[in-house]
Amino acid sequence: MMAPPAASLQHRIAEKNPRAASFCVLFSLFLLGVLFFSKRSLEPTVSVFTSRLPLPSNTPVLHLLPPPASVPPVQIQRGRTGGLGSPPESPREARAGTLLPPPLEASDSLETSVAEPQTPNRSESFHGGVGGTERLREQGLEEKCDLYDGGWEEDREGRYPLYRAGSCPYVDDAYACQENGRPDTGYLKWRWKPYGCDLPRFNATDFLERLRGKRLMLVGDSMNRNQFESMLCLLREGLPDKSKMYETRGYKITKGRGYFIFKFVDYNCTIEFCRSHFLVREGTHLTSQGTSRPTLSIDRIDKSSSRWKHADILIFNTGHWWTHGKTSRGKDYYQEGDVIYPKFDAVEAYKRAMRTWGKWIDEHMIPGKNLIFYCGYSTAHFRGGDWDSGGTCKGELEPITNSAFLDTYPPKMKIVEEVIRDMHFPVILLNVSRLTNFRKDGHPSVYMVNQTEGRKVSRRKQDCSHWCLPGVPDAWNELIYATLVLQDPLAW
Ligand SMILES: *[C@@H]1O[C@H](CO)[C@@H](O)[C@H](O)[C@H]1NC(C)=O
Ligand SMILES: *[C@@H]1O[C@H](CO)[C@@H](O)[C@H](O)[C@H]1NC(C)=O
Ligand SMILES: *[C@@H]1O[C@H](CO)[C@@H](O)[C@H](O)[C@H]1NC(C)=O
Ligand SMILES: *[C@@H]1O[C@H](CO)[C@@H](O)[C@H](O)[C@H]1NC(C)=O
Ligand SMILES: *[C@@H]1O[C@H](CO)[C@@H](O)[C@H](O)[C@H]1NC(C)=O
Repeated sequence: MMAPPAASLQHRIAEKNPRAASFCVLFSLFLLGVLFFSKRSLEPTVSVFTSRLPLPSNTPVLHLLPPPASVPPVQIQRGRTGGLGSPPESPREARAGTLLPPPLEASDSLETSVAEPQTPNRSESFHGGVGGTERLREQGLEEKCDLYDGGWEEDREGRYPLYRAGSCPYVDDAYACQENGRPDTGYLKWRWKPYGCDLPRFNATDFLERLRGKRLMLVGDSMNRNQFESMLCLLREGLPDKSKMYETRGYKITKGRGYFIFKFVDYNCTIEFCRSHFLVREGTHLTSQGTSRPTLSIDRIDKSSSRWKHADILIFNTGHWWTHGKTSRGKDYYQEGDVIYPKFDAVEAYKRAMRTWGKWIDEHMIPGKNLIFYCGYSTAHFRGGDWDSGGTCKGELEPITNSAFLDTYPPKMKIVEEVIRDMHFPVILLNVSRLTNFRKDGHPSVYMVNQTEGRKVSRRKQDCSHWCLPGVPDAWNELIYATLVLQDPLAW
């Protein structure tokens, strides 16, 4: 009965040849997943990239902690072959009838920035992906660090995972890899290390203190729910009495429900999740035959925005659902005003929807009072097939060590980047594309269902897009914590 989480984008890993890799990426970026579930109420299956967006490069600079001398900048071992390497297949019609061949937005969207070995000075060359920190510069704090430019380092202090596998009641069964029988544990012990600085040591109590009296809300698809669960588990570690946090209406986290509010009593703060696959409004229209068909109004913000308004900190994402059948086909689906377009390009629709979102933020959010993050594309790692056709990631025990695969930049990110750049509100981009790119070992694969009970997962379906918990999304939340710590606390 477990619903497999989403599918995803298939990223094939061609590591031997960077050119082949780029090529693969082009193809792969858009081969997306289709819905497992036809019901809207089910969690999305995620498919491809959630477009993770980068921040405009003129963005604010982050003030950095002095790098502890004991921690040398990390470098992921490069030059080794990761072992994944089948050439991409051509896009095909997905089983459910949904199609994925990507609109060719891909070609100009690949960036081949090469991650060369870092020079010691590289650390100082960056914009931190943090918005609204201009004041730091004014204060003369000029050290800066790109928190997203770094590598995964093995934890030797025994600090990771930040919460014990199996200890947190808020992890969805589909992400509870250890409890589902995953035998290896190496994937639990990596920590993200920016080249130019150290992340502040994660301190759940301090995080809660910073959230006192505030509402933090994650809005988006199941990737964001993955992150939401991680956030609950991380903060829970800061509570000596674990009963001091609860869902206010007593709801248990399930895919079927779209809104959760967890209250931390002693801190008078809430951590909430609000499902919104597209951020803009889904609706229906009646065809001439009298049947009801889904539509997506790309010029209207999602209805759930009435909830978003009350949050102090918001973390958005959207992307996976844009690659599903009806959305990617764009037939009689996209709507503006009263007009339903007979045919509309999905990429253009995505761009307009993001602008609608940006406009809403600009109109409703107040710099200094609100803090807005946009979580960029989280990489999926399917090898030998697509999410629904036998693509796998089972047996991946280590992060990718060859940078070739990592040099691509999802096309939708450019759109997000552009939208954010044109906004008045300083949105902070949680630029996780690259750091997730490395982690082919972090997905549930077949451990999305309980293997120890002998439950079978379809041979053709593994989850190589969501993440095991504890796991990779913990690092995203550490980055949010780092942002809070590094930003001028008084200004927010
Ligand atoms: C986000 O990360 C990618 C590398 O993965 C980089 O190319 C891009 O410039 C970054 N965006 C920002 C705004 O930092
Ligand atoms: C690196 O930084 C040091 C001191 O900040 C400076 O003297 C040196 O010229 C820099 N090297 C490069 C290649 O920028
Ligand atoms: C999987 O099954 C085993 C054995 O029955 C059980 O101990 C474990 O809790 C189950 N895992 C989950 C996530 O329920
Ligand atoms: C964590 O933060 C709390 C509250 O700010 C502080 O009292 C505590 O000493 C911190 N713990 C560590 C290990 O730094
Ligand atoms: C708790 O936080 C809310 C804002 O979320 C605030 O209105 C309320 O006064 C706070 N209550 C206490 C007891 O501090």
